[in-house]
Amino acid sequence: MSSNSLTVTDNRTNKTYNLPVEDGSVKSMDFRQMKTSDEDFGLLAYDPAYVNTASCRSGITFIDGERGILEYRGYPIEALAEHCSFLEVAYLLLNGELPNESQFKDWRSEITHHTMLHETTRKFLNGFHYNAHPMSMLVSTVAALSTVYPEARNIHDPANRQLQMTRLIAKMPTVAAMLNRYNVGLPYVHPDNDLSYTENFMNMLWKMVEPKYAANPVIAKALDILFILHADHEQNCSTSTMRMVGSSEADPYLSVAAAASALSGPLHGGANEKVLKMLDEIGSKDNVAEYIRRIKEGHGKLMGFGHRVYKNFDPRAKIIKWTAEKVFEVTGRNPRLDIALELERIALEDDYFVSRKLYPNVDFYSGIIYQAMGFKPEFFTVLFAIPRTVGWLAQWQEMREEPGLRIARPRQLYTGERSRKFVPMEERKAEKAIS
Ligand code: CMC
Repeated sequence: MSSNSLTVTDNRTNKTYNLPVEDGSVKSMDFRQMKTSDEDFGLLAYDPAYVNTASCRSGITFIDGERGILEYRGYPIEALAEHCSFLEVAYLLLNGELPNESQFKDWRSEITHHTMLHETTRKFLNGFHYNAHPMSMLVSTVAALSTVYPEARNIHDPANRQLQMTRLIAKMPTVAAMLNRYNVGLPYVHPDNDLSYTENFMNMLWKMVEPKYAANPVIAKALDILFILHADHEQNCSTSTMRMVGSSEADPYLSVAAAASALSGPLHGGANEKVLKMLDEIGSKDNVAEYIRRIKEGHGKLMGFGHRVYKNFDPRAKIIKWTAEKVFEVTGRNPRLDIALELERIALEDDYFVSRKLYPNVDFYSGIIYQAMGFKPEFFTVLFAIPRTVGWLAQWQEMREEPGLRIARPRQLYTGERSRKFVPMEERKAEKAIS
């Protein structure tokens, strides 16, 4: 018997099984052979929120939640944030290696040639309600890109996949900037291909009547760093959605729209918007202790705190805190920072948060920077979705290249009724509805 195995005795039958252990995991399907009779379906693994289930093999992003380590393709996030541009990191995530000079030149040129939107997309955008939430508009517009590129359905052709991925990465800032201007009633600004990815995004967001937009280098660098930090985070809720929807062979626009929908929720990417609303609700440093007392009594959650994987600190939060200081030198200090710092100080000394290993996550400080840059809280999650599109696509591409890929299809533990006798409508009594 291999020492790399698990011996399991099924006390219902007294049978013993040896299950191979590979990469620190056992295969759920190995439990299926454990039956009490021939008719028995076999044992299932039950894990409703996927707390302890690996859903794929991936070589893209490594996280050690206990030690606060995050690496893209083996490179520490700190080094990438310090030395790389977002487009370099996007290339790394998608291709596994950092680009050399000529590879980067080609990649940059490919992206800049796909930044424009088809006129039908602009018209589509004009149909939204005047106060529509930016994330709802983003999800709908990305899904609508599927109508402009129907050939995207051919997901089995690698060259076609590459083209659609380039289009998505190139067009996300254009869509995001357009919907931001739509919300405030400003005319759209065309992409400027002389500028870097983030500078061009700033151009499309903030250019007014000047002939050429000049991006503030500190703000452009800060946005670039924020984009790098948000680019991928292995199998989180939205990335798992991307893989789940993509496994049905849906096209990448529809799959990204589904992933962005998952991101919009307040427990995931929508947390950055909620953090700002929470800081506004607290109002001043003096109210922090009382707010924390109420959280501990079960009145809501401290938004921007806690993580399923990080149980020590979120390395992204550390880099963001440093970036915030740089941005405030240009924009002036966001007064909410003092409330946030006090919240962090009190929470990190409090046994409720310490014992549950709840630390500030990426969303805790990012919103404060975005607000200082002039973004409305409703737009913060869109700023998360732009770079995360790269991660979603890298994971989708990795999945598509997997030999023997099958549609994702979890099982359930059925708890409802069985084999009921059908009752015609006229004989039915007013039964209590199932909630
Ligand atoms: N404030 C107060 N209590 C919390 C918080 C919080 N932010 N997060 C977790 N807890 C408590 C939770 O109630 C539970 O307590 P108990 O053991 O007494 O029942 C304990 O800590 C363990 O939490 P959990 O619910 O098992 O944690 P989870 O892994 O299911 O959820 C989370 C992770 C991130 C959804 C959660 O911590 C949370 O809701 N945080 C606030 C929202 C947020 O900031 N989300 C952004 C996450 S990072 C970026 C991203 O994913 O997009």
